[in-house]
Amino acid sequence: MTTTERLALLGGVSAIEQPLPHEVWPPPADEAELSELAEQRNTDISIKGNSGPIGRLEADFLAFLNDRLPNDGSPDAGSPNGRLPNGGARFAITFNSGTSALLAAYFALGVREGVDVVGPSLTYHAALSPVFALRGDVVLADIDPDTRGLDPKALQTALTEHTKVITVVHQWGHPCDMDAILRIAERHELRVLEDCSHAHGSRYKGKPVGTFGDAGVFSLQANKAVYAGEGGILVTSDPQVHDRATLLGHYRDRSRDAVLDEDLRAHWVTGFGLKLRMSPFNAIVARHALAAFPAREEARHRCLRYFGEQLADVTYLEPVHVADHVDMGAWYGYKPLYRPEALGGVPRSVLIEALRAEGMEVGAPSGPRLSTLPLYARPENPLFPGTPKTGAVPETGSHAEYVERHALSLPTFTNWPEDTTLIDQYAEAFRKVGRHRDALVRYAADPTR
Ligand SMILES: Cc1ncc(COP(=O)(O)O)c(C=O)c1O
Repeated sequence: MTTTERLALLGGVSAIEQPLPHEVWPPPADEAELSELAEQRNTDISIKGNSGPIGRLEADFLAFLNDRLPNDGSPDAGSPNGRLPNGGARFAITFNSGTSALLAAYFALGVREGVDVVGPSLTYHAALSPVFALRGDVVLADIDPDTRGLDPKALQTALTEHTKVITVVHQWGHPCDMDAILRIAERHELRVLEDCSHAHGSRYKGKPVGTFGDAGVFSLQANKAVYAGEGGILVTSDPQVHDRATLLGHYRDRSRDAVLDEDLRAHWVTGFGLKLRMSPFNAIVARHALAAFPAREEARHRCLRYFGEQLADVTYLEPVHVADHVDMGAWYGYKPLYRPEALGGVPRSVLIEALRAEGMEVGAPSGPRLSTLPLYARPENPLFPGTPKTGAVPETGSHAEYVERHALSLPTFTNWPEDTTLIDQYAEAFRKVGRHRDALVRYAADPTR
């Protein structure tokens, strides 16, 4: 430490020079994307079937998953139960948001009054909230502190006689413990929904997420690694799931042309009453994002691996844990855990204040534990007054509570090697705060600050 060094919070010079924002996402469109958008404007601005950019996005998305399978990923429509022999996905259906795709998936998997869905207690609410719109109930289970996704042991104890569906969310890009979760699902004859909204490109034991469960959903909202602006995509190999999900969100042409089951197809004029289809403009944006994805994924890997290495000597941080058998795909943020005991017990809020003063883009991850939200906590479904539900119980001492209180949210650096300068400055800012632990403890203790 130089004798003149001071925390920026206490009047010193900031460790990070580059002005905010540091995470700029989504990237700007190139000429090819802009001209395709312009052309679509004068061709067809509402696609009722799955022609044009809608069909192309769906085909590209399936190829994106199936090309990543460990073996040959060519779809085989003749395989039993609609499953591909190599475990890929047969169908992709676009929606106007990830939330809509999740609603359709829950409907397709049989969620209705009297059905429980077990899901993780700390995630983005939309992974589970659509269950309530179908009059189903959600049972929350604790997360695994390593994967930050559903803990198989907690899942086992959360099962009820009404459980039909398990929802896993591959949180922040880290795949859940799929072997253990699928074993439980098989033993209890439960359906599995994978919410892959944070995990485009992530793999578990070499196999892409979204291809393990009965259905996989990827949000394509603007912050995501593959972005449409607003949009979502559902993938499945189960023809029944495909048909029911299609009918929930796509009436007329799309249902007439795509629904396989004759009885279900009888509903093609009306579908099941909702129109949740994607606009062609969003599909064009998403296709370009998908085409650019491999290079961006590689750049994020390099940046975030480098970031992790630079943070290794910051004793008050627990770096992001990445198991050997997983691939983080494009990541979704960088969220280490704060260890206050290694920084004199300084509250996370004060640490964040000090880091922000150093010029860092940092915060607490958004989204509280679901049990704290009225939609989950109350014993009555507010959409259907009079429909009772269990109501989430407080989870004091849970892993979810620990992560909620200790995680830090840092940018998903994407520009390699340009971002290395910024990453070095972030690491230096963390170290600087560590060097000034005593000054920060005094600052935190001073109620007049
Ligand atoms: C895990 C998860 N599930 C679902 C959603 C909802 O997706 P959308 O915003 O596209 O509706 C999100 C959005 O951030 C999410 O993070």
